Amino acid sequence: MTAYRTGSRFLLAALGSSLLAACANIGEAPKAAATAPPETTLADSFEPLGQAGLDRLQQNTMQKVCSEYEGKPVPDDLAKQIIAEAAAGVRYPADGNYFGDWKNGEKIAKTGTGLQSNDDPALPNGGNCYACHQMAAEELAYGTLGLSLAQYGKLRGQSEPILQYTWTRLWNAHAYNPCSHMPRFGDAGILSEPQLKDVMAYLFDPASPVNLPAPAPAP
Ligand code: HEC
Repeated sequence: MTAYRTGSRFLLAALGSSLLAACANIGEAPKAAATAPPETTLADSFEPLGQAGLDRLQQNTMQKVCSEYEGKPVPDDLAKQIIAEAAAGVRYPADGNYFGDWKNGEKIAKTGTGLQSNDDPALPNGGNCYACHQMAAEELAYGTLGLSLAQYGKLRGQSEPILQYTWTRLWNAHAYNPCSHMPRFGDAGILSEPQLKDVMAYLFDPASPVNLPAPAPAP
């Protein structure tokens, strides 16, 4: 919208009689944009579309702090507050069972759709884990913003603390790292409890491709 307004001002000025007027108008626009608060510029730049409403621009405390300290250390008291709030909000499986179906977990890990304006809100969201993590050795396409999760269950076992740690990470990674870049799958309602259980099974089940050895290199 800001760019559009600048453009239309320019158009009006260009249609006017003097070139000087056009120059004055072009000169004014960036000054106005530079003094507008960032929230106004953001709100002016987006329009609600489908399920992507402008409420998504409202930052919670964690997001405000992490935006303010992007690339800098977060002060201790704020970091502790974010971690405590994230940890307090985690909901563990009601039936005490962490595991669902790893095959469905694999689909969730490989699915990158959901929550965008052009996605069908009636369909379940994906977890898009491969965008940031290596997981099964057989899958060649993955991002590296997150660490490799290959052999995750095999390397860590299935003790209660490990299961709880992993569930908490999936629910809200800010319980461990105040300004984590990992999506808050449980906390933000991206994945449902059964979906989170499926992803847990994908990470831990000995039969899951995540825990199978890497295929031998081609001769
Ligand atoms: C946008 C990138 C991104 C996506 C998408 C993402 N993660 Fe992460 N994940 C990270 C980062 C970065 C870390 C490192 C720790 C941190 O900063 O929180 C991490 C850490 C983890 C850890 C902790 C690993 C350890 O060794 O302790 C697990 C488990 C994990 N992610 C699982 C998943 C799963 C499962 C999914 C999909 C449902 C997923 N992640 C999606 C970025 C991502």
